[in-house]
Amino acid sequence: MDKAEIGLIGLGTMGSNLALNIAEKGHSIAVFNRTVSRVDEFRAGAGQLAERIVPCRDLDELAQAIRPPRPVIIMVAAGTPVDEQIAALRRKLQPNDIVIDAGNANFHDTVRRFKELEGSGLTFIGMGVSGGEEGARHGPSIMVGGTEESWKRVEPVLAAIAARFRGEPCAAWLGPDGAGHFVKTIHNGIEYADMQMIAEIYGILRDGLGMEAKEIAPVFAHWNEGRLNSYLIEITAKVLAADDPKTGRPMVDMILDRAGQKGTGKWSAIEAQQLGVPATTIEAAVAARVLSSFKGERLEAEKMYHDLPTERIGGGREALLADLEFALLAGKIAAYAQGFAIMAGASREFGWNLPMPTIAKIWRAGCIIRSAMLDTMAEALASGGAEENLLMAPAFVALMKESHSSLRRIVARAALAGLPVPALASALGYFDAYRQGRGTSNLIQAQRDFFGAHGFERIDDKGAFHGQWE
Ligand code: 6PG
Repeated sequence: MDKAEIGLIGLGTMGSNLALNIAEKGHSIAVFNRTVSRVDEFRAGAGQLAERIVPCRDLDELAQAIRPPRPVIIMVAAGTPVDEQIAALRRKLQPNDIVIDAGNANFHDTVRRFKELEGSGLTFIGMGVSGGEEGARHGPSIMVGGTEESWKRVEPVLAAIAARFRGEPCAAWLGPDGAGHFVKTIHNGIEYADMQMIAEIYGILRDGLGMEAKEIAPVFAHWNEGRLNSYLIEITAKVLAADDPKTGRPMVDMILDRAGQKGTGKWSAIEAQQLGVPATTIEAAVAARVLSSFKGERLEAEKMYHDLPTERIGGGREALLADLEFALLAGKIAAYAQGFAIMAGASREFGWNLPMPTIAKIWRAGCIIRSAMLDTMAEALASGGAEENLLMAPAFVALMKESHSSLRRIVARAALAGLPVPALASALGYFDAYRQGRGTSNLIQAQRDFFGAHGFERIDDKGAFHGQWE
């Protein structure tokens, strides 16, 4: 058998699916797993694809099996296991070989690993992969950071396994060292915001309109045929329609309202803060997940405040449903605007020169936040005017003008009814603050000068000034 085109370590769910995808697209792949029995088990279950899978019992065999320069994908748990695996590979690989971390790494770790490998002859790729199990198996969105040379070595394989949008592969080289993992992190921040806003709209339908899951499902299915068309809206409709085999009740009603998180959403918010980029909707979504985990405390607080209103929302249902659809649209635009602004900030700060239109393009298929709107975003980012903020792109100016009043009404009605909509409310606040030419920070500057002599700028003169406050 010819040498394998690429190697992969870690045959967990994501690793196995990625390996099968690579084999299916015609590339032979050498695989290794720490629990070695898994290697044979995996190959045995690969059916006809087994002929393109080279099972390896140790790292020496793996290194032998791959065509140099050898790219080796590591698909193990993020953190220390990645460092351990790199250390083990260093002893086995040759100059110019490429270690690829395909997990959800913190980009700071990726930058560090990149530096640590400098001088060793090996190069490193930090690769964000989105699309869950299904994506890994049949076409993920792939965000690559590393040297252009190492990208060129793996491009044929990665382009072959990636999802396609109108024939274009959703895989791209986005910049050096941590660029790929950074972009994946922001993808996840947007994912959190998108999911939280959908959950808030579900909350209004459930608690404000008293609708059952089965009634809400077709609402989302209908929205999925319109401008909100996206993977997350599609699966929301399916999730709401599913029954619990144990009780026969809607599955979603049997699930505890406590959301988990692995950290990437939080990293997005942290990086936004570090870069000085406002990302209120992403932050609100992360905070909402955290608050969801305080189940016991929330139950106590509900008792404490039982006499406060949590009311039904009255009025015409059709008009309200139309408002909810457009509110979600407006909120989503604000969240994406924040995500792209964080990436623009990082691009400046780290000198990455991130290709924004390409990022939008490779998110159009395969990834969790894929949506029809990303195609419009890719066009808007490519045609200029949105360098600072997507909200300045003519297409999105038009969309916001069309949808902001729905967002306003929904946030106001939810607030009056006592229904929490922190992410939608933050999206509205972000939009209104962003479009306010004369804000209120003149007062903050005055306060800062009052208590700390911090100084301020005047509107009619250059330089730093102090007030005579008392
Ligand atoms: C993707 C997802 C994925 C992520 C899960 C869980 O793009 O395929 O972002 O990488 O791990 O969505 O993330 P949380 O556990 O933080 O919700």
